[in-house]
Amino acid sequence: MITIKNPEQIGLMRRAGALLYEVLQTVAQAVKPGVTTAELDAIAEKYIRDHGATPSFLGYEGYPASLCTSVDDTVVHGIPSEQEVLREGSIISLDCGLVLDGWQADSALTVPVGRVSEEKRRLIEVTEACFFAGARQAIAGHTLGDVGHAVQAIAEANGYGVVRDLTGHGIGREMHEEPSVYNFGRAGHGLKLRAGMTIAVEPMIAMGTWRVESDEEDGWRVRTADGKPASHYEHTMAVFEDRPPELLTLPGHVWKEAD
Ligand code: MF3
Ligand code: CO
Repeated sequence: MITIKNPEQIGLMRRAGALLYEVLQTVAQAVKPGVTTAELDAIAEKYIRDHGATPSFLGYEGYPASLCTSVDDTVVHGIPSEQEVLREGSIISLDCGLVLDGWQADSALTVPVGRVSEEKRRLIEVTEACFFAGARQAIAGHTLGDVGHAVQAIAEANGYGVVRDLTGHGIGREMHEEPSVYNFGRAGHGLKLRAGMTIAVEPMIAMGTWRVESDEEDGWRVRTADGKPASHYEHTMAVFEDRPPELLTLPGHVWKEAD
């Protein structure tokens, strides 16, 4: 079921989103060589609980942490570990979600660990460009195909693969609501967006093949099939008539002509 939120409900989601922004900034600032991914998870969980919210990933379908930490060829759903020490030159996707007063926020970004290669820096930049191109299509009357097409066009123009096995999603009282938000598609096709929809757009972009493999041991980790790095960027947003969406997990963001 697709749920439409009224302005008051969007206001509550804005509060959840603003808190999640702070959580991810705090975790991102702690990323450096020598830190373990378990330490990053602890920082996220503490920040969330100290501010009166609840981590939404923890316990979700048995997921054992508050944060997903996906390093290099891990695309998404890397489980934080005390054994996993960050090394200079890696890139890491930090994906987190929380519930505040019954409303969900979900967001991810990819950051470098120390100094990284030009090619990894570019992968991160293009993934963000894919997100902004897709997200700005999320206007009432446009379709989900418009969003996915915009993401795909930029990724493929740069020679990158769009991971297809995972998608963005509706979000509200639940972390995952309908519809699925594909990162590929045909302009003008698919579900028509309506004002008051709240969705998470989350391109997962690979330097090589878009094909991925799931880890059979932990049941969560998703890796690129060719072992090349991937990047991930996500925000929760509210859809309006006649203007690009409000990015609820990026407070203060304003759309410019050039974006
Ligand atoms: N951002 C991810 C998503 O949208 C988070 C899910 S991880 C889980 O699906 F652990 F919570 F499942
Ligand atoms: Co998500």
